Amino acid sequence: MRHLLDTQTLARDEAIRILDVAEDMAATQGREVKKLPTLRGRTVVNLFFEDSTRTRISFEAAAKRLSADVINFAAKGSSVSKGESLQDTAQTLQAMGADAVVIRHGASGAPHTLATSGWITAGVVNAGDGTHEHPTQALLDAFTMRRRVHGGASRGRDLEGVRVAIVGDILHSRVARSNVWLLTTLGAHVTLVAPPTLLPQDLSAWPVTVRYDLDEAIAEGPDAVMLLRIQLERMNAAYFPSEREYSRRWGLDPVRLAQLPADTIVMHPGPMNRGMEISAAAADSPRSTVLEQVTNGVSVRMAVLYLLLAGERTTEERDAPQ
Ligand code: NCD
Repeated sequence: MRHLLDTQTLARDEAIRILDVAEDMAATQGREVKKLPTLRGRTVVNLFFEDSTRTRISFEAAAKRLSADVINFAAKGSSVSKGESLQDTAQTLQAMGADAVVIRHGASGAPHTLATSGWITAGVVNAGDGTHEHPTQALLDAFTMRRRVHGGASRGRDLEGVRVAIVGDILHSRVARSNVWLLTTLGAHVTLVAPPTLLPQDLSAWPVTVRYDLDEAIAEGPDAVMLLRIQLERMNAAYFPSEREYSRRWGLDPVRLAQLPADTIVMHPGPMNRGMEISAAAADSPRSTVLEQVTNGVSVRMAVLYLLLAGERTTEERDAPQ
């Protein structure tokens, strides 16, 4: 694998390979010493032009557990805020010897530009670009579902027939987009649930079922319900009457939670707005996988960095003293 830019073009076999390697990584994470020597001498740059806590530290933990050197580059307070272009920043990183660049950017397509520009030779991982995609989030979500649905022993398997309801601000969500493509590739059925104002206008190319009523979606007894944050920072107009009205109609409150089948899991990529799209009762319930998703995120990102950086090395390179 040269780059990981999206899940829309990720083949089923590639996706399953990443999930399987993530299982191997997860198996090492239960040990007392979590660090593997695999990427010693390699440099991973976290290039974050947008705020992020969990995704950035997750990539940092993943790179460090593989013994890579990590450089964190937050665009705020850097020369980017003085007007330096993506090209100049990228070329600076190249000159410093970056082997992989993990990029989060407010503009959809920025990781693609970086990967195809010729400015750098490093592998590029998309850590969220605008409202476009967030592939490692979808992979960690699929990893979490696969483990739950198949009860742990899930190597080599897909998500055939698994029914997933994705609820909330689909319009602004790169998590929703990446999940729609990946889950469908893996054989799952996706239902999107949102007010019409929070859905893209043209969904004809999306392989999904659409519902406007959360209670109808819950009555179908999905295997997983994924709540999405209302992304107020990407909204420049009123998309719903009030927060109260939103949570009353599209929030997973305690009453709706109780109506879900006993083994339905409740997922959220974080950060959560408790009381808005998800009640505290749902977020903290035993069926919530929120923290499991965070843990799995490190294993999945270790797998992605490993496949990006270790795969291309020859045996000689790998065995040579560092
Ligand atoms: C998501 C993101 O940044 O796209 N969060 C994340 O990566 N953990 C979703 C969100 O911000 O709501």
